[in-house]
Amino acid sequence: MRLVFLGPPGAGKGTQAKLLSKEHGIPHLSTGDVLREAMAKGTPTGLRAKEFVDKGYLVPDEVVDALVRERLQGARDRFLLDGYPRNESQADELDRMLLQLKTELTSVIYIHVADETLVKRVGGRRSCPKCGAVYHLESKPPKRADACDACGNEGLVQRPDDRAEVVRERLTVYHKNTAPLVERYKAKDLLHWIDGDRPIDAVARDVSEAANRKPGGSGGRS
Ligand code: AP5
Repeated sequence: MRLVFLGPPGAGKGTQAKLLSKEHGIPHLSTGDVLREAMAKGTPTGLRAKEFVDKGYLVPDEVVDALVRERLQGARDRFLLDGYPRNESQADELDRMLLQLKTELTSVIYIHVADETLVKRVGGRRSCPKCGAVYHLESKPPKRADACDACGNEGLVQRPDDRAEVVRERLTVYHKNTAPLVERYKAKDLLHWIDGDRPIDAVARDVSEAANRKPGGSGGRS
């Protein structure tokens, strides 16, 4: 299984990729998580990325391309890519990486959610700074208010780029740069269209089913 999760900010890519990764024991590679880790550690890559992430802009292609290239070497046959590619240039680069590894994508899971819902969703997201677990104040609250179910850490936080003004910028960037990839992968008959505006477990059932099936015909809604 070699999948790409595609969709706007807050669509549930990370939530669903983590569930599928657990179900099948497949490595989950989230460029957002890798960049946040680098920013938290203050590495040169993290310091460079921070200037872009905090404003809701895309980090330069050469930075993320290198992160993905390095990680794909080890995960050749099984991976879930979440948040990459994010524009045509990254999609071209991914094609080159896969060609060099003599492999190809099995499918692309596109999670669709309307912009109005996304703004609300992202505003309610809280995450654990210690283990990275992700919650939502309404749809996925932690069992104990403000404490992480997974590691017990007290003090869940809001991502700095989840502030309303940054979310608006991220949505603009998504529609301009990333949304065109839906057509690209549809044309290659790789796309599964998933309605992400339903409860997490209902979306997860469709994602799991789609991940195990070749996209059909024209690659439209499935
Ligand atoms: P990244 O972390 O990838 O952000 P994103 O793509 O904007 O996606 P999010 O993490 O916001 O949302 P998600 O779809 O994973 O949703 P989640 O499952 O968390 O990237 C951050 C930044 O890094 C970018 O802006 C950019 O600067 C940089 N970057 C990353 N990759 C890059 C690249 N390739 N090139 C250049 N720059 C890059 O869910 C959201 C919330 O909703 C959670 O609270 C969750 O609990 C809840 N939820 C999930 N599903 C449901 C549901 N079905 N119903 C109700 N609530 C739900």
